[in-house]
Amino acid sequence: MCGIVGSIGKNNGRDFIIEGLKTLDYRGYDSAGIAFLKEKEIKIYKDAGSVSHVNSLIPNKENGNVLIGHTRWATHGKPNMINSHPHLSFNKQFALVHNGVIENFVELKNKLISKGITFNSDTDSEVVVNLIASIYIDTNDVLEAIKRAIKEIKGSYAIGLIHLGEDKLYVLKNASPLLIGLGEGYNMIASDASPMIEETSKFLELGDEEYGYITSKEAIIYTRDGKHIHKDYVTKEAEMIRHDKNGYDHFMLKEIEEIPTVIKRLFDFYTKDNEYHFNKSLISKIKKSDHIIFLGCGTSYHASLVGGRYFEEMLEIPTASYIASEWAFHPMFPGKKPFIIFISQSGETADLIHCMKIVKERHLDTLIITNTKGSTLERGCDYSLILHAGVEVSVASTKAYAAQVALLLLIVAAVKGDINIAKEMIASLPIISHIKDNYKDKIKEIANEIKDKKSIFYLGRGYDYYLSLEASLKLKEISYIHSEAIAGGELKHGPIALIEDGTPVIVFITDKVTAASMRGNIEEVKSRGASVYVISTKNLSRDSDKIIIEEYPSYLSSIIVSTVAFYLAYYVSLFKGYDVDKPRNLAKSVTVE
Ligand code: AGP
Repeated sequence: MCGIVGSIGKNNGRDFIIEGLKTLDYRGYDSAGIAFLKEKEIKIYKDAGSVSHVNSLIPNKENGNVLIGHTRWATHGKPNMINSHPHLSFNKQFALVHNGVIENFVELKNKLISKGITFNSDTDSEVVVNLIASIYIDTNDVLEAIKRAIKEIKGSYAIGLIHLGEDKLYVLKNASPLLIGLGEGYNMIASDASPMIEETSKFLELGDEEYGYITSKEAIIYTRDGKHIHKDYVTKEAEMIRHDKNGYDHFMLKEIEEIPTVIKRLFDFYTKDNEYHFNKSLISKIKKSDHIIFLGCGTSYHASLVGGRYFEEMLEIPTASYIASEWAFHPMFPGKKPFIIFISQSGETADLIHCMKIVKERHLDTLIITNTKGSTLERGCDYSLILHAGVEVSVASTKAYAAQVALLLLIVAAVKGDINIAKEMIASLPIISHIKDNYKDKIKEIANEIKDKKSIFYLGRGYDYYLSLEASLKLKEISYIHSEAIAGGELKHGPIALIEDGTPVIVFITDKVTAASMRGNIEEVKSRGASVYVISTKNLSRDSDKIIIEEYPSYLSSIIVSTVAFYLAYYVSLFKGYDVDKPRNLAKSVTVE
């Protein structure tokens, strides 16, 4: 996902932009750039590579009053200097940075080329800056040019635009996030609050198809039809936004160890005086539904499997969990009154935004469970519940996963009207602290033993199978070792053929109903030479088990025992010398399909 940072009227804007882009690097990028609005020209420094590399290209004395910066995660066109942002218009009058995907850029580009306009890059973003520049020739008014351009553009965009000769920073936005930060005597823009949170706690959230400009003193915003609108600022808490490791070596380790705090914050937010505090209309809609449809990707999809089990087991409401990118092409609507629950940490996952468009055509009630207020999915759904997990910087999701599962449990408990479920969850949190204080060395031992293996398997049944799916994803995405999760009963239907001498098999046994069968699975894989690591609860444990955890209600496994899986993935990646927080090929939020 690309990152945008801009400023107007700020002293030493260059350092602000550079540091701001570094703050956004968790979104993943492969090139960067910055534009300075000078008196007689727009100066652009950009290249493939890191923000620091681009900063080294800029003369020491270079600075300016109006600047825009960008980190690009290539969608259209290779990661190289030409395709990186900012993009200059054909007549060098405008420069722009863009996050999103212009769906009709080929059609627009051909139209502009037929007018004799030339292009340098392969990007969809350059089409927008040339479109605005070409319309401006007729309007001689930037706002009018933007207003007309918005009517021609199809797709998602968050754009910062500068115009030679005007002390303004123009903005336009649709479906990709863009925030205005209100400073004292200066103003800023960014893709999220994190680059600006040390400067201000006051933000304006741009809505879809809104546009306008900021100066050092004001922010002027219009709707798609050119109507000027007043926006009240929202405040954001620094500690929930700030990106710092607080002394940890990696964000991932910090975020794993934040899980108990995050779960407690959820409990405090959604329960008061022994009562649940959820939107009454939301709870009523869920109660009236005859089928809950979950849509998610990756870790969030795994959380939905656990949540689906909660709905079925505790409320006897049928559910179906779908991988968003699968459902998007074959939408299924089981039930007569389905209620749709989207799960997304970022709230910007393109596969889910695609699904949301399909759901809205059916006018079905929707809930988004997300960590990102103001995100596209959060604004697009009928109901939204925030995870309040604080910014999750590490690409590998940990605290957000635990929070998603916990929030799903609280929703079910609220529908059921049983406050004891929430209390049971809170009462089990000390077990997570016990794992942190007592088991890290054992987990490091396992990590050392498996880190050079070519394949690692997880085994479980029920909640332990859902946990195995998440454990396996976490391991493979940051250690780059092939891993898969197998439902215990499925082993004999094929996967056991993969087990050979020394194959690591990690087994979760926390559910008394399936424990005996899982012990049978252990014997099956051991007899084929597997190295087995059992993670069990005390009531179900054997002396040979590697990690034995205090007993808790097995439906909490994905909140409690997931920390063991997260620590294991973390240490395997660390021992292999990889960038734990920014694994290769991955971005924190996948905003392309
Ligand atoms: C999680 O560790 C992965 N990085 C990835 O699977 C992620 O969960 C997925 O891309 C969905 O992201 P979202 O929750 O922001 O929609």
